[in-house]
Amino acid sequence: MLQPGEEQKTQATVDSIIAQLIMMEADRKTTLIGVGGGVITDITGYAASIYMRGIKFGFVPTTLLSMVDASIGGKNGIDVGIYKNLVGTIRQPSFILHDPIFLNSLPQSEWINGFAEIIKHACIKDAAMFRELESNTLKKYQGRKVLVCKLIQRNAILKTNVVQQDEFENADRKLLNFGHTLGHALENQYSLSHGQAISIGMTYACQISKQITGFKETNRVVSILERYGLPTYAKFDKQKVFHALKMDKKRERKEMSYVLLEKVGTGVIKTISLDQLEKIIQEL
Ligand SMILES: NC(=O)c1ccc[n+]([C@@H]2O[C@H](COP(=O)([O-])OP(=O)(O)OC[C@H]3O[C@@H](n4cnc5c(N)ncnc54)[C@H](O)[C@@H]3O)[C@@H](O)[C@H]2O)c1
Repeated sequence: MLQPGEEQKTQATVDSIIAQLIMMEADRKTTLIGVGGGVITDITGYAASIYMRGIKFGFVPTTLLSMVDASIGGKNGIDVGIYKNLVGTIRQPSFILHDPIFLNSLPQSEWINGFAEIIKHACIKDAAMFRELESNTLKKYQGRKVLVCKLIQRNAILKTNVVQQDEFENADRKLLNFGHTLGHALENQYSLSHGQAISIGMTYACQISKQITGFKETNRVVSILERYGLPTYAKFDKQKVFHALKMDKKRERKEMSYVLLEKVGTGVIKTISLDQLEKIIQEL
C-alpha cells in the first residue's frame, strides 16, 4: 500500500517497492499488480519493467482517469522534481481489469479529473463524442451507470487504437499529449491535479491553435471544460513555466512538437521553434 498523491511518483517509492520485492523473493515469474489511480499504475508498470530487467504486470484502474487513459498504452514512469514523467519505460501490461464498482467511492474532484482526459480524446479524435458531452452533464453520467460505462469503453477503445498503431509515439500517439505540454509544466509547480493541469493546458493549446492553424472553436472547448467543472484560463509565471516546458519529451533540440487543433475532433502536430513558442507563451 502506498500513500496517495503525485508526490509519491518518485524513484524513492520505486526503490522501496524493489526492496519489498527482494524481501518477498519475487522472481521472473512474479506478476506485479497495481490497483489504484494513474499514480499507482504508472509506478507499478515502471517498477515491474526494471525489476530483474522486467517482470509481468497488470492493472486494476480505480479512478475514472486511469480507466479511460492512464492504465492504457504502456507508458510507465516517475517524476523528477517538477519534471513530470521524465524517467520511465514503454512496456505493456499483461492485463487491465476495468470494474466500474470503484467509481462508487470516487470523490467529485476525481470524477472531474477523469473528464479532462475524456474531453481531450474528444477534441483530438472524436467530434461525435464531443457533441455527446456537450449535450450531457457530469451529474447525468454519475447517475446512469450504463451511460458512464459506455463512455469509459469508448475512450478505452479510442486510446487502445491509437497505441496499437503507434506504440512508440512516432506519429499519431503524439496527439494524446494535447494539453500536456503546458499542463505538465504547470502541474507540479502549482500543485495542480493532472486533470486540472491539462485542462488549463488544453485551453491555451486552443489559443495557440488559433494563431497557427486558424482554429476557431476555442470558446466551444472552454465551455465544455467549464461544463465539467474544470479550470481554463489561469494566471501563471510565464518565464518559470516556459523554463519547465523546455524539458518536455516532445522537444527536439530547439524545436517542440506541439499538439494543436484544426477543428473540434481533429488534432494536428506542429513543430514550433522554442523562440517562437516562448514569444507565444509570453503573449498568452
Ligand atoms: N501512463 C499514462 O499514459 C498516463 C496517462 C494519463 C495520466 N497519467 C498519470 O496519472 C496520474 C493521475 O492519475 P489519477 O488522476 O488517477 O490520480 P491518482 O492516482 O493520484 O488518484 C487520485 C486520488 O484518488 C484516490 N482514489 C483512487 N481510486 C479511488 C476510488 N475508487 N475511490 C476513492 N478514491 C480513489 C487516490 O488515492 C488519490 O488520492 C498522473 O501522475 C498522470 O501523470 C499517466
